Amino acid sequence: MKSEIKKYILIAAGISVSTVLFGQSPLFIPSTLTGTTFNLDVQNGTTQFYPGINTPTYGINGALLAPTLIVNKWDWVTMNVTNNLTGTGNSTTLHWHGLHVPSMADGGPHMIINQGSTWSPTFQILNNAGTFWYHPHGENKTDRQVSKGIAGMIIVKDSTEAALNLPRTYGTDDFPVIVQTKAFDVLNQIAIATEMDTAVMVNGTVNPYLNAPAQVIRMRLLNGSSMRSYNFGFTANKPFTMIATDGGLRDSALTLTRLILAPGERAEILLDLQGMQGQTIYLKSFSSEFPNGIYGTGNLTGMGGASIPDYNLNPLNGSDFSILQLNITSPTLNPVTTIPTTLTTTTAWTNYTTSRTFTLAPVSMGPTPMLIGPFDINGAVFNMNVINITTYLNSVEKWRITNNTSIAHPFHIHDVEFDISSVNGGAVPAYMKGKKDVVLVLPNQYVEFITKFEDFADDSIPYMYHCHLLHHEDDGMMGSFRVIDTNATTGIVTLVSNDGFTLYPNPGTEIMNITSSGNEIFSIAIFNSIGEIIYAADTISNCQLPIASWNNGLYFIKINLGVKTFAKKFIKQ
Ligand code: C2O
Ligand code: CU
Ligand code: CU
Repeated sequence: MKSEIKKYILIAAGISVSTVLFGQSPLFIPSTLTGTTFNLDVQNGTTQFYPGINTPTYGINGALLAPTLIVNKWDWVTMNVTNNLTGTGNSTTLHWHGLHVPSMADGGPHMIINQGSTWSPTFQILNNAGTFWYHPHGENKTDRQVSKGIAGMIIVKDSTEAALNLPRTYGTDDFPVIVQTKAFDVLNQIAIATEMDTAVMVNGTVNPYLNAPAQVIRMRLLNGSSMRSYNFGFTANKPFTMIATDGGLRDSALTLTRLILAPGERAEILLDLQGMQGQTIYLKSFSSEFPNGIYGTGNLTGMGGASIPDYNLNPLNGSDFSILQLNITSPTLNPVTTIPTTLTTTTAWTNYTTSRTFTLAPVSMGPTPMLIGPFDINGAVFNMNVINITTYLNSVEKWRITNNTSIAHPFHIHDVEFDISSVNGGAVPAYMKGKKDVVLVLPNQYVEFITKFEDFADDSIPYMYHCHLLHHEDDGMMGSFRVIDTNATTGIVTLVSNDGFTLYPNPGTEIMNITSSGNEIFSIAIFNSIGEIIYAADTISNCQLPIASWNNGLYFIKINLGVKTFAKKFIKQ
């Protein structure tokens, strides 16, 4: 039975990569949302990736993908995220990848949005202008929910970027380019965790073309794939100019003919199409040129020639394939015609006071686990009830990520951006300079970066660090860290709008009363200061917690109202 399924998948693969001519469908450009309140409805839908073939998908405010959110630095925004997914076990979370926000608003695995519920974090946009994204992050659900379609772009604007002469008219000379591959099964359902991700798509469009004006255009490249890296380049090795990395503008423009982006990474590039009206060129992945060990290379083999089942059957691996066709049309009225050389000034962190090491390794040893996992980080797999690392507000740290496996892993950290300080002890290639939040670590190499844990502290709710290969993440290649403010005064800290909740007396000794003005409490969960759940109840009739026998210390309470979840803290003394 299993081999039969594989055969059918291969036939589907044949349809997608060879018999359909490339450049058949206009590139879909996601709609935009602007302002400071964003209503995001996570829902089911149906998408025709291939004409006449219906595939069930997930999307936000639509059947697939999500609107592009355009926000301004310093604005306070509220995201009203409603989970209208159907099907069993479809709670979700929504994470603002790359945004520097409090852990309570970060949308990690702990910020569960039950089906039918709305989660409404409010936070300030503190990032510089750049290209970020948002996607689900539920425990063991990320790959499925992202692969089924939930992913959107976030564009942050600021005055530094606005002062540069750059293309910035969305959909006209400034294009979102969300690159993904998907696998389909015999029933045209999106298949998860198979190596047959043969359908290449941009913004959900298979075989896409874009009418691009004959001037300097900007492309916001986002690798939103579950597993696959791309070695981006254009027809005839046409050069392009990288102006921004994960965290926004580079200090200076960098001219390239190739750029590797792993899952989670972004880059903004400028492409000079002046004088090329009437020509057709292609954005491609030159995957035949990949170093060994990267998902997408033709040579992904481990110790003793171990290989990933089916990997070598996927025609994309190790080949150069088209991603997007550019049909070059007449220029717009006021085209951008020059490419700036200097862009901004960022300061790299240098003087760290704490060093940490992170070792990526298979859970069990052997040639095949070295390639396919499951993998752990410092010997631990992800556990919702454990906080792996505690750090301190304003700590500047150097993290060394060592890859003791046979496959490259894109290491991602929430909360902060970092500066890469060495690759395998040596110099940092130019394209890896600038503020980043994902770095691809090749097999048997290490990467060091320096970062600072600024602005947000929370004793109880952790941030995540993990491999951004979603199959690896879901298998547990993720850990958590919290940032503690040692100078903070204790007592009630309201993490989100408190909606009429009170905990009293605080600090308390015998009974902790919970009152709410007009909201029914569905359930509560209490965590101790290291994140272990120590008490949970579906309903509490009299809203009193019997704390007399509890250890003295700080406790964190999560109160679920059915439509919203709030968090508060109290002290037992
Ligand atoms: Cu884009 Cu923790 O993820
Ligand atoms: Cu993230
Ligand atoms: Cu990984």
